[in-house]
Amino acid sequence: MIAFLQRLVWSSTYRRAKLLLRFAEVEADGGHDLVRAAEVTRDPILRKLFLRHASDEAHHAALFRRRGLDLLRSGQAQTAMTAPPWLAPGERGLDDVRIDEQQEEKLLAFLHLSEKAAARDFASYAKVLERDPDTRAVFQMILRDESFHMRYTHQQLIRLEPRRHAQILWRARRSRLWRLYLRLAGGIGALFGAVMLSVQYFVLLPPFALLARRAARSEPEGWRAVADDRARRLTSQY
Ligand SMILES: [Fe+2]
Ligand SMILES: [Fe+2]
Repeated sequence: MIAFLQRLVWSSTYRRAKLLLRFAEVEADGGHDLVRAAEVTRDPILRKLFLRHASDEAHHAALFRRRGLDLLRSGQAQTAMTAPPWLAPGERGLDDVRIDEQQEEKLLAFLHLSEKAAARDFASYAKVLERDPDTRAVFQMILRDESFHMRYTHQQLIRLEPRRHAQILWRARRSRLWRLYLRLAGGIGALFGAVMLSVQYFVLLPPFALLARRAARSEPEGWRAVADDRARRLTSQY
């Protein structure tokens, strides 16, 4: 089912272009976060890795932007239907991180799970893009870096927390699932609200509209003369 929806999402060139441009923003944002992480860490190994990671994300942003703009310039017709972010999230698309408030081990766990999700998602997008080999090649190129990010964050977490790394990862996974649930619940709530409003509009309102029309028909048309004594009353308009 998800594969079918993804194929549908990526089938339109215009939608593909918009998605790639959104991914470019997410990658650039992730790169800024990693520069900040490199600034605040006191660990020289992590600083070096975070800077390399930040430069990779900036490169990914440039690749996505270039390909997205190329697709937009190809002059394909616009489509009104856009893809919801939960169906095609970019890297860290469902999460945001506050670098200054995070402990290093928690940040590494967060990054590891985000990179893992990105690697899985990008592999599935590449799979459904057989008709667009250029966009597929962009995903395949980026996928190699994401796999490296996924591995180094895990290795560094084990280095910093040799005994507690599994527990930290489990907690990070739990809070990621919780955020996912909140977003899903919000989406379902919005959908339910739209259905209820449509029902009110198409089922409850028509009888009132008919009654109003019938009442309007029984009213005489044009101006009506008002009796003199009523017209002179200062306490009433009529
Ligand atoms: Fe990336
Ligand atoms: Fe990455």
